[in-house]
Amino acid sequence: MRQEMWSLDSWRGKPASQLPNYPDKQKLAEVEARLSTYPPLVFAGEARKLKARLAQVAEGKAFLLQGGDCAENFNEFRANTIRDTFRVMLQMAVILTFGAKKPVVKIGRVAGQFAKPRSNDIEERDGVQLPSYRGDIVNGFDFDPVARTPDPARMERAYVQASSTLNLLRAFSQGGYADLRQVHAWNLDFVRRSSAQTDLYDQIAKRLDETLAFMEAVGISNENTPQIHEVEFYTSHEALLLHYEQAFTRRDSTSSRPIDGYEGDWYDCSAHMLWIGDRTRQPDGAHVEFLRGIKNPIAMKCGPSLRPDELIQLIDILNPDNQPGRLTLISRMGHEKIERHLPPLIQRVRAEGRTVVWSCDPMHGNTITAKNGYKTRRFGNILTEVQKFFEIHRVHGTVAGGVHFELTGKDVVECLGGDQAISEEHLSEGLYETLCDPRLNASQALELAFQLCK
Ligand code: PEP
Ligand code: CO
Repeated sequence: MRQEMWSLDSWRGKPASQLPNYPDKQKLAEVEARLSTYPPLVFAGEARKLKARLAQVAEGKAFLLQGGDCAENFNEFRANTIRDTFRVMLQMAVILTFGAKKPVVKIGRVAGQFAKPRSNDIEERDGVQLPSYRGDIVNGFDFDPVARTPDPARMERAYVQASSTLNLLRAFSQGGYADLRQVHAWNLDFVRRSSAQTDLYDQIAKRLDETLAFMEAVGISNENTPQIHEVEFYTSHEALLLHYEQAFTRRDSTSSRPIDGYEGDWYDCSAHMLWIGDRTRQPDGAHVEFLRGIKNPIAMKCGPSLRPDELIQLIDILNPDNQPGRLTLISRMGHEKIERHLPPLIQRVRAEGRTVVWSCDPMHGNTITAKNGYKTRRFGNILTEVQKFFEIHRVHGTVAGGVHFELTGKDVVECLGGDQAISEEHLSEGLYETLCDPRLNASQALELAFQLCK
């Protein structure tokens, strides 16, 4: 397929959905100019390393765990929040490593996951109409005209938050906090405190305990084996706010070629991995245009409206060289629709010989509204969708590469069910904190990992 030339701002000539309408264009241009001079958050070499890891996932030699907040926000910017989410991801990863007998590639929805797509541009309350909340990087949550006006300066604040979040994550990953023994001890503590499913969790935890004891006995310890003491942790977010993404897209000088004057590949250095949402994956749209030109590993959400032909067209655009690890397809069909909608996509991708990572987001197709008006999701439906995802891949002989969750390490009450038997009546102000989608709390996230391990 013939493609037009890509440039850093070629997306600006394409139809763009879900972008804010900034009233102050002058200020927008000034902020963009400043952002494009700020240091990048990640380095191209790291993104390439993640791509290589994902190539292993595509082959079935590793497993992908991606998770974090639906949306980060400015109010929840606390060391403990970052720490707790990181910790629960590590705990899940240990359980899944044990279950899958494969390395687990860990990617957070973090350090840049601020912008949200919305179903309506306008929100109406009591006859008053205001622009919808699009995430703290765009406007404020409060329903008043000043807060809801998109303000470009918020991108700078998001950058500051993203960079210090990443700084802390790097410290936790490398500085000893992520030690395997410690993560295992947290899991044992979880198993001790949980009331349901104890036999299953106990068994898994005991076997892990024995494995670790054996490793120690033969001399594999955190002193001689960095893998026990440190983890690789990558960042990702939806590449929705293209003004921000463009500003952090830089040439990778290490891939330049002085001989013919090539200045190097473009990497979006706001995160290691970027994804395209289900609402912005139009083949001729701005988001697809932008992402095709960057060399990071990228992902695309695949909802029930995606047809096999369109998927192949999108793969042609996003991964024309069929590079393993470049493209992750995140299926988010819903537990009732996955059996009808996923198999035709898998069959077609396989028939066309395309290498992709298949991952399952069991969150976004399973959102419901509780009787008291809260947006929520049932633990059972989430688990069912992932189980069906694995079963479909087993039947087709393809690789179920990973999972994608909205979760938090905090003890919130947003999703229904699980060991804590959260019911609709429990959804109430104070414990329901998310400004966007309901997240699994720490306990629900770990239960899910144990269930998948089984
Ligand atoms: C999300 O991941 O928060 C999201 C909006 O997902 P989707 O694009 O699949 O609806
Ligand atoms: Co969400």
